[in-house]
Amino acid sequence: MHDLRSMECRVFGTRTQAERELAVEVAELVRVRPDAVLGLATGNTPTGLYRELARMHRDEGLDFASVRTFNLDEYCGLTPDHPRAFRRWMREHFFDPAGIPAANTGFPDVGENVGAPGASDRIDPCADFERAIRDAGGIDLLVLGIGRNGHVAFNEPGSERASRTRRVELHPWTRADAAAAFGGLDRVPTHAITMGIATILEARRLRVLAFGPEKRALVARTLAATADPDWPASQLHGHPDLRLLVDRSAAG
Ligand code: PGA
Repeated sequence: MHDLRSMECRVFGTRTQAERELAVEVAELVRVRPDAVLGLATGNTPTGLYRELARMHRDEGLDFASVRTFNLDEYCGLTPDHPRAFRRWMREHFFDPAGIPAANTGFPDVGENVGAPGASDRIDPCADFERAIRDAGGIDLLVLGIGRNGHVAFNEPGSERASRTRRVELHPWTRADAAAAFGGLDRVPTHAITMGIATILEARRLRVLAFGPEKRALVARTLAATADPDWPASQLHGHPDLRLLVDRSAAG
């Protein structure tokens, strides 16, 4: 049984206010620790946060040159430059505008369709990714969104609390949600590499964002459920520094 009180939920009047609050927290961390390690999500949810951090870099001289980042996940089967590859998305939405050198950014290695049946096992890139996070000193602050099926990163329903970085099959809803961006469901990758729930729980601070009425039921279920593998976001309960930042429409 995990302590429900550990999932603090802060409700903001607007999404922009929540993004600003988290941007200020990230900025304070980076000012105190210029080589801070950030865990980062892609998608619609964190875009305003990245925009605000890039603005702070541009207008206030917030220096990200020594910050290290690890992204939560990446699709299998896409080149790093594919328009829908998370690596490219991050470069365009955050790394380049915030002045984060490519060499400081970590992604799960999806080369050679890692972990696929029959794939070369010369090295284990999932273990390499975990090692790289540990070698960097662990993640100081990790940003998450919640998917329609309760997923965090690509930990789909059924994911164990003890799960680590691994190759996963994407849930039909996850693929359906990505279909428009890919120009058709058949173009959406079937697999991805994702940090596991245990990997995520090792971050020192977890910050979960949820905005808009379509997230309302997801927020309610995340707050209500305890360690339910069918609702992966609920497996975050029990983390010692976990905060949910939502706007009024997502809070219900
Ligand atoms: P979204 O996705 O940010 O596009 O709403 C959240 C998620 O799937 O984790």
